[in-house]
Amino acid sequence: MECIRANMLVTTPFSVSPNPAALFITPSLRSALHKIRYTVDNRQGLTCLLGDAGMGKSSLMRLLHLEYEGREDEVTVAFLTDPDFNTPNAFVRSICQAFEIPMRRSLQAQKTQFKDFILEQASAGKNMVLLLDESQGMNSEVMEVLRSFLNFESNTAKLLQIVMAGQLELRNRLKMPRNKALKSRIVMYSLLSPLTPAEAKSMITHRCQMAEIPIPFPDTALDLIYSSTGGVPRDILRICAYAYQTAQITGDKNVSIELAEQAIEHERAIMDEEAV
Ligand SMILES: Nc1ncnc2c1ncn2[C@@H]1O[C@H](COP(=O)(O)OP(=O)(O)OP(=O)(O)O)[C@@H](O)[C@H]1O
Ligand SMILES: [Mg+2]
Repeated sequence: MECIRANMLVTTPFSVSPNPAALFITPSLRSALHKIRYTVDNRQGLTCLLGDAGMGKSSLMRLLHLEYEGREDEVTVAFLTDPDFNTPNAFVRSICQAFEIPMRRSLQAQKTQFKDFILEQASAGKNMVLLLDESQGMNSEVMEVLRSFLNFESNTAKLLQIVMAGQLELRNRLKMPRNKALKSRIVMYSLLSPLTPAEAKSMITHRCQMAEIPIPFPDTALDLIYSSTGGVPRDILRICAYAYQTAQITGDKNVSIELAEQAIEHERAIMDEEAV
């Protein structure tokens, strides 16, 4: 896989951290990667990555971040994993901080400082990339600031490329009439879809290969886990982790179908408890 550093190898096979090295690149992820790379490399401006919770957005953003960091001669990148969307001022400051741009007192002065930086990078031949995770938290005021950043352009290219990733609530926000100015600037959308049963199996195989362990799940156990999760990777991994852990405690080499059932039931019981 592209641009994965050796020190990011997976040691916990079913970890739910957004480690890009742990990603099994499904067709849905590959298509998103293509669209985002196209938008960024051709300096087209804004692209939007959507997906339900646990579908792999942050992991994909980390992968892109590593990739662009590795191209520092041509790209200047900043990745905001949890941007401050509270006010336009806080938002602009958090972006400037990420690009290590000096702080100014007023919002206007800070925006000017940012604009100067963008122009400097452009004249040095650098492509500037802003990766924004958790973008479902963006309000209309902040969206308007983001839209204004897309006005920095030459005759042929945008000077700032923005990738915004967010849960499906972001799609609902973009559909609101007051946010249509930003929505109309989006060049490409990507939507991460749930894994198919075959992809879920390949994901588990990939995780086990990276952790250098044999696959501890028979197909029947995996099928059961898959059907209880609807193909959401984080949910599959969480149940796998519990079942695998239980098998280790009981000294079993493999996760039996009974252990898989137990892991699913364990989660169901907790969720029902919370609902009471
Ligand atoms: N295709 C995949 N292959 C391997 N692991 C995956 C895959 N997709 C997601 N995961 C794993 O699922 C977990 C959740 O992924 P991630 O945190 O990237 O999701 P997210 O879409 O950002 O969720 P949220 O909206 O809650 O922030 C991570 O451990 C990630 O490695
Ligand atoms: Mg995330």
